[in-house]
Amino acid sequence: MTVLVTGGTGYIGSHTVLALLDAGYEVLVADNFVNSKPEVLHRMAELAGREIPFVRADLCNNKDCDALFSEYSFDAVIHFAGLKAVGESVAKPLEYYSNNLISTLNLLKNMQTHGVRDFVFSSSATVYGDPASVPITEDFPLSVTNPYGRTKLMIEEMLRDLYKAHPEFNIALLRYFNPIGAHKSGRIGEDPFGIPNNLLPYVAQVAVGKLREVSVFGNDYNTPDGTGVRDYIHVLDLAEGHVAALKKLETGCGLVTYNLGTGKGYSVLEVIRAFSKACGKEIPYRITDRRPGDIAQCYADASKAQKELGWQAKYGLDEMCADSWRWQSLNPNGYDE
Ligand code: WQD
Repeated sequence: MTVLVTGGTGYIGSHTVLALLDAGYEVLVADNFVNSKPEVLHRMAELAGREIPFVRADLCNNKDCDALFSEYSFDAVIHFAGLKAVGESVAKPLEYYSNNLISTLNLLKNMQTHGVRDFVFSSSATVYGDPASVPITEDFPLSVTNPYGRTKLMIEEMLRDLYKAHPEFNIALLRYFNPIGAHKSGRIGEDPFGIPNNLLPYVAQVAVGKLREVSVFGNDYNTPDGTGVRDYIHVLDLAEGHVAALKKLETGCGLVTYNLGTGKGYSVLEVIRAFSKACGKEIPYRITDRRPGDIAQCYADASKAQKELGWQAKYGLDEMCADSWRWQSLNPNGYDE
C-alpha cells in the first residue's frame, strides 16, 4: 500500500514517514520546502536505510497537483502540508486561507478523480478554542480565534461535507495537541525558521545558547502555578497515531475524529524544569505579559483513540525533553550545517 505524504519533510511529516516505512507501507513524499529543507530528506533516507520517493510539488499549483496524481499512484493520502504559525496567520490571513485551503481542495479534487478514498488530515486542538473545561473530548464545541485555526476548522467542515456527499471516502481528522520531542537518533527534529513561536524549540535554543532567556507569557492564569498548561505529546507517539488511523481507514470506517494527546497537562514552568533536568543546565526565564490569544489550559481526553485505534501515547515529559535536547545539542543550527 502506497501513501502520499504531503509536507512529508516537515517536523511531524518526517517522523510519520519513518513510522509508515517501519509499518511496511510504501510512501511518496510531496513537499515544496516552504517550511523545511532538503537536508531533512537526506537524513530520513539515512535513518530508513533507503531512498525516500520524493516529488517537489506545490499543491496550490493545479498543474503540480494534477501531475502528482497522473504520474504516480497511491492508495491513501496523509495531508500535513500547510502553514501553521498562529501569529503569522493573524498578520497574513489571505496567505493562510489561500495556501491551506487551495492545497487541500486541489488534493481532494484529484483524489476524487483518481479514486483515492483514504484521507488523513492534520487538524489541531486549536479548533476547540478556549474550552469551557478540561480534559477535552472530540464532541466539545468548536470555535477558533485566529486565521490559522480557522483554516483547520474550515477544512474539517469541507471534509464533513465531502463525506456527506460521497460516503465512499474514509477520512480521519486528527486533532494534535502540542507536538514536541525528536527521533531517538537525534538526526531529525523540530527546526523552525527564525525565532521559534512555540515553547519547546524556544527553550531548547536557550539551552544550546542560541537565545538568551525564555519569556514566560504570564503567570496569572487560573492554573496550579499560574502559567499556561498544555498537553505535550511526543512526535514519535503522534507519528504512530497516524499509522493507527490509516489502518482504521482501511476497514472502511467512513469519517472519524480523534484527539491525539497524552491526556496530561503540563505548565510552562514544569516544562522548563523538565528541560533543565534533561540538559543538565539552568534555563534562564523571565515572567512577562500574557501573549494575546493564549488560553489557560488545553489538554486532551485521549480515550477515544485508545478505544477505537488501539493507540495511546507512550512517552512522558522527561523523555520528550531528553529527545528534544539530543536533537538540539547535536544540531545547534538545526538542519543548516
Ligand atoms: C505553549 C505554552 C504559551 C512560547 C500552538 C498552536 C497550536 C499548535 C501548537 C499547530 C503556552 C507558553 C510559549 C514562549 C511561553 N500548532 N509560551 N513562552 O500556543 O499551545 O499552540 O502551537 O498546530 O495550533 O496554537 O503552543 O508552544 O506556542 O505555547 O510562555 O516563548 O507556552 O503561553 O502557555 P500553543 P506554544
